[in-house]
Amino acid sequence: MMKQYSVGILGATGTVGQRFITLLEDHPWFEITAVAASSRSAGKPYEEAVQDRWAQKDPIPEAIKKLHVYEVEKDLKTIADECDFVFCALSMDKAKTRELENSYAGLELPVVSNNSAHRWTPDVPMILPEVNPHHLDVIEAQREKNDWRRGCIVVKPNCSIQSYVPVLEAWKSFQPEQVIVATYQAISGAGKTFETWPEIVDNVIPYIGGEEGKSEQEPMKIWGTVEDGVIHAAEKPVISASCIRVPVVDGHMAVVHVDFEKDPTKADLLEALEKFENPLAGLELPSAPEPFLIYFEEDDRPQTGLDRDAGNGMAVTVGRLREDTILDWKFVALSHNTVRGAAGGAVLTAELMAKKGFLG
Ligand SMILES: NC(=O)c1ccc[n+]([C@@H]2O[C@H](COP(=O)([O-])OP(=O)(O)OC[C@H]3O[C@@H](n4cnc5c(N)ncnc54)[C@H](OP(=O)(O)O)[C@@H]3O)[C@@H](O)[C@H]2O)c1
Repeated sequence: MMKQYSVGILGATGTVGQRFITLLEDHPWFEITAVAASSRSAGKPYEEAVQDRWAQKDPIPEAIKKLHVYEVEKDLKTIADECDFVFCALSMDKAKTRELENSYAGLELPVVSNNSAHRWTPDVPMILPEVNPHHLDVIEAQREKNDWRRGCIVVKPNCSIQSYVPVLEAWKSFQPEQVIVATYQAISGAGKTFETWPEIVDNVIPYIGGEEGKSEQEPMKIWGTVEDGVIHAAEKPVISASCIRVPVVDGHMAVVHVDFEKDPTKADLLEALEKFENPLAGLELPSAPEPFLIYFEEDDRPQTGLDRDAGNGMAVTVGRLREDTILDWKFVALSHNTVRGAAGGAVLTAELMAKKGFLG
């Protein structure tokens, strides 16, 4: 059976690009028809372009091995002819990325991006599908402003926030006021493996450039409101973040302390997690995990090694909910950074866009 949408991957040779390739291998709606990267990889068969740096557990899918790698900045027209939409997993200069994403959208291709370049463009929705699917409504104004008919740009938030934002969303009726979060982030988040980053073995690095600002600010756009064709960021809760790189391959863990306006009990909080009203329920999106939020009663869960693949890497696992001595409550949450936090989250976003008619 023919799949409904032909898809291009910009940045197909990198960590996130490779993840797109494995995740889409058996996708029921999306079929990869074009892969693109820098001039370093362009012109080669995909298999040759990633030799010695294929970092996925699964092998390169047969259908992709021989695909010709296009050059992102030169082959736009060819890619636009071969695809219905593109995923962007480029790691390059922000201004250049913004310009490129605009050019692809200008060729009437929807762009679903992992890159941060457009995250603060007011009419570009930053989607965490279970939290703010309604922000896709801003696409109409974006198209009108840019004179795009079918093209549009939609971005994913940073991988560090995907564990704690859904939990706080489930608790929003208790009005979180202040949040202190420390994230313990995997090396694949930096596009690295233990082979390419031996200095991280037996080491912890207390700094990830730019990550703390993203972890504090991006949730505010996600919880923002759409008005007059732009997204206005929310003002609460106030978040203070510390982001730390740890010697783990995949999986970002967050340790979170929260102060609420209301005074929920532990039973209230657990019930809210269990009864989270998932806005994707009933849409039958192929990548949507069920359940989305999983709470562990065991004191030593979630664990990165055991739990990052829950729901095929798309679920968020939570545990250790207990009273805090300074704020109200504290807990631990975990999500897979290159699946939920990157490629998988983008695929789910594109599925939602397809379902809502935004892919044309
Ligand atoms: N890793 C994660 O967990 C994660 C999570 C969320 C978001 N992200 C974001 O996703 C994006 C990709 O991250 P990554 O970790 O996959 O990066 P990466 O492994 O460094 O891969 C970067 C990709 O961009 C291409 N590229 C680099 N410079 C280019 C240029 N000048 N022109 C055209 N293509 C160029 C590379 O092509 P060549 O192979 O030809 O050099 C490669 O395909 C980044 O914006 C990152 O912030 C990553």
